[in-house]
Amino acid sequence: MNITVIGTGYVGLVSGVCYAELGNRVICVDKDRGKIDTLNAGGIPIYEPGLKELASANRAAGRLSFTTDLAEAVRRSELIILAVGTPPLPSGEANLDYIDQAALEIADAMNGYKIVAVKSTVPVGTNERLGKLIRARTSKRFDSISLPEFLREGSAIQDTLHPDRIVIGADSPSAAATMALLHRPLTERIVVTDIRSAEMIKYASNAFLATKISFINEIANICEKVGADVTQVAEGMGYDSRIGSSFLKAGIGYGGSCFPKDTRALIQIAGNVDYEFKLLRSVVEVNRDQRFNVIRKLETIFGSELNGKTIAVWGLAFKPNTDDVRDSPALDIIQHLVDNGVNVRAYDPIATANFRALFGKSDVVWCDGALDTARGADALCLLTEWEEFSQVDLGELQAALNRPILIDGRNVFKEEHLLGTDFVYYSVGRPSLS
Ligand code: UGA
Repeated sequence: MNITVIGTGYVGLVSGVCYAELGNRVICVDKDRGKIDTLNAGGIPIYEPGLKELASANRAAGRLSFTTDLAEAVRRSELIILAVGTPPLPSGEANLDYIDQAALEIADAMNGYKIVAVKSTVPVGTNERLGKLIRARTSKRFDSISLPEFLREGSAIQDTLHPDRIVIGADSPSAAATMALLHRPLTERIVVTDIRSAEMIKYASNAFLATKISFINEIANICEKVGADVTQVAEGMGYDSRIGSSFLKAGIGYGGSCFPKDTRALIQIAGNVDYEFKLLRSVVEVNRDQRFNVIRKLETIFGSELNGKTIAVWGLAFKPNTDDVRDSPALDIIQHLVDNGVNVRAYDPIATANFRALFGKSDVVWCDGALDTARGADALCLLTEWEEFSQVDLGELQAALNRPILIDGRNVFKEEHLLGTDFVYYSVGRPSLS
């Protein structure tokens, strides 16, 4: 197919590259000239393992191109996919300005029948609204499709090329069939629904995963008090196929650009129809509090002496294998430490530059390596489970620290790793070791 993907953020760029990989001719469009220039020069504006190589192979094969010219791209395509951002408004509601803007530009450029699919996460009813906007400007025929995206940052290509399912929301059976044919090489598991249900599937899926995480984090907090081990509890629960083992890793809570935004948006969507989503409100509240688990441990260890201490922080990204720091728990944790007179030394293998840009001016010492970060610190907090951290020699780490105190916010280390060291070790939902 000839496909235009509008928006070259995570979703748009990865989807565009993967549709090209399937043999389609894909034009990726963005208003940001700088981004398009970077992409045309063979660069990738985001960090995503494997994306650069796949993009350049498909460009070389003539299946993938990048442009700022939306109208020309639309004219050359049968399928237009919207993957523009829907950032949260202060109320939590999704801001649909980019969607509306794109709809108008698509309408003005239409030169025949098109399928217009929305991959951006949008509230129920947005596809209908989009249809109305386009119809008001052109008499050309088109069909709307809701095409929610389930890829995760850090494993985006794997998730796109090997999805658990594809969801297609459509009013038109023939447009649904065209979309099913396009995605058939990826999976047999294609769920065709009405448009509103497809829009809802996306929010419900993210809200459910966020619920699993907050649930296991509360179980972890109870485990700490009753002397149980949450990793064993999660394993024992996860073998039950009705529960499943994924998204039961206790830690300092979820961050990123999706769960925090989508949970708040769904609470708002429910509120708009006079329904209070009490469970999801609690999920959000538990998550907000969970990041302070690390702080509470530091306060227990140092009491009023925390002020003036030096604390090392490993990991700034909201999860490993990404440079994304949006809503990363590290933002609140480091801010709290700095506000309380703690000297912070921080390091992330990839995300330091993004973190500094978001965090602003502060007295944090940004370090170049894991061991260097620990040097002279009174305790070390691990906030993101980058593989690099589990490879560090714990003997050398102990020697670098002023005091061998390790607070592992992601349960990376096991008791056997610490044998032969003097570490006092705290994790989440597991007995502490000394
Ligand atoms: C999430 C969903 O997993 C994707 O299916 C969805 O497409 C995407 O949002 C989106 O809406 O665009 P993502 O935010 O990239 O993907 O990352 P996840 O791997 O889901 O992790 C989210 C957060 O949950 C991270 O902060 C991670 O550390 C945390 N998490 C995850 C846990 O604390 N425990 C777990 O067991 C799993």
